[in-house]
Amino acid sequence: PLPPPFQVPLPIPPVLRPVAPGRYEITQREASAEILPGLRTPLWTYEGTFPGPTIESRRGHPVTVTHRNELSVPTVVHLHGGRTPADSDGYPTDLVLPWSGVDHGHGMHDPRAVVTELTRDYTFPLDQRPTLLWYHDHRMDYTAPAIWRGLAGLHIVRDDAEESLGLPAGPRELPLMIADRAFAADGSLIYPALPDRPGVTEEYLAGVLGDVILVNGAPWPVHEVDAARYRLRLLNASNARHYELEAVTDDGRRLDLVQIGADQGLLAAPVTHATLPVAPAERYDVIVDFAGVPVGGRVRILNRLGAGRTREVMAFRVARRAADDSRIPGVLSADLPVWQRSDAVRVREFAFRAGRMHGHHGWLIGGLPFDPARSDVVTGLGDVEVWRLVADVHHPIHLHLAGFRVLSRSGRPPLPHDVGLKDTVSLRPGESVEIITRFDGYRGRYLFHCHNAEHEDMGMMANLEII
Ligand code: C2O
Ligand code: CU
Repeated sequence: PLPPPFQVPLPIPPVLRPVAPGRYEITQREASAEILPGLRTPLWTYEGTFPGPTIESRRGHPVTVTHRNELSVPTVVHLHGGRTPADSDGYPTDLVLPWSGVDHGHGMHDPRAVVTELTRDYTFPLDQRPTLLWYHDHRMDYTAPAIWRGLAGLHIVRDDAEESLGLPAGPRELPLMIADRAFAADGSLIYPALPDRPGVTEEYLAGVLGDVILVNGAPWPVHEVDAARYRLRLLNASNARHYELEAVTDDGRRLDLVQIGADQGLLAAPVTHATLPVAPAERYDVIVDFAGVPVGGRVRILNRLGAGRTREVMAFRVARRAADDSRIPGVLSADLPVWQRSDAVRVREFAFRAGRMHGHHGWLIGGLPFDPARSDVVTGLGDVEVWRLVADVHHPIHLHLAGFRVLSRSGRPPLPHDVGLKDTVSLRPGESVEIITRFDGYRGRYLFHCHNAEHEDMGMMANLEII
């Protein structure tokens, strides 16, 4: 019995309070939440909630997050989009061991020893452009089910320059984590995992989809707004579902989606879209103006790629007229990197395709499944490279550490929403997409991979080593 759409109020994830300046603590533990009215859903959580608590940071002010694992499985934390030293980047085999993984050899848990083994400090310098980041599980072979069960939260980086622009702020800035899930009749999450090995059954090779659309953990929520501009900070945290979002009034009018930012922060100038495709892990920073909507009217956010209930995402109800002194400046930022093809010291090509791995179906990069022991890409700190990414089916490709720009799609200019600095790019079926980036920041071993979380678990990940 799914709830009717646009009845449940939109939750805003709680902001995590530091335990000391720049220091946070997060406990990973099981908890349950009422997601579908009247039912309890068991979850894996950061601090007991899904989404986990939001961390609010300032550019260039480092934070340390101590994660404590009270789940029954090892975990890994990755700050998606963070410019993070490799030892805090959440490499898929850098585990935070659970309680049950601690063995002191005499069947006893020594509480003092436990404290060091069950926790891990992740340090994030956050010396990067302000943007919406997200943190999520990244354990090798098990990322998809862990995110599905609830291990995802937001991390927002801000700075004075962005705050001086006059963009909608405070209650008129809304983080929106969109994720689909499937539920059993008792309210528990359904994830079709194989009993005997990582990954999902072959009928789910394309990825696991749910029939319930959650925004900030609530099914098809509704949010009351002023008749004014709002800043919507969109994240597609779904494992495999793609969206093409539109904002539609009761009389069928589409409101403009004015994009001001991409995965890695503000654009140079705003770009207006009628609809906006959002692939898994992508973020879009968008202004919607409700001023022209009558009080009492509703604006539905719809997914043009969905059908039936998955066509609906959430709604805004315009509650009152209100003053609006926000602005959308014509110039948003002047610090976007400009890399030219001629700056590139290397061009690489990677094919993202289905294939056989270890005797069953999987997903391969350049014909190979992920192997932590293999070196796939070795590049020099500061090198500019062009990568040509070729897809069989839809693959959202994500690079750790390095923001990039989209140069072309199958030989044609990028699409309007490819603008700005990105860390995840949606390769559409059969496409070849060129990106350009500069590998700077830190040396060490990082990753690039498909962010269809099932594809990632089924091999579509590779090592990126910066020397
Ligand atoms: Cu969102 Cu490698 O991660
Ligand atoms: Cu993929």
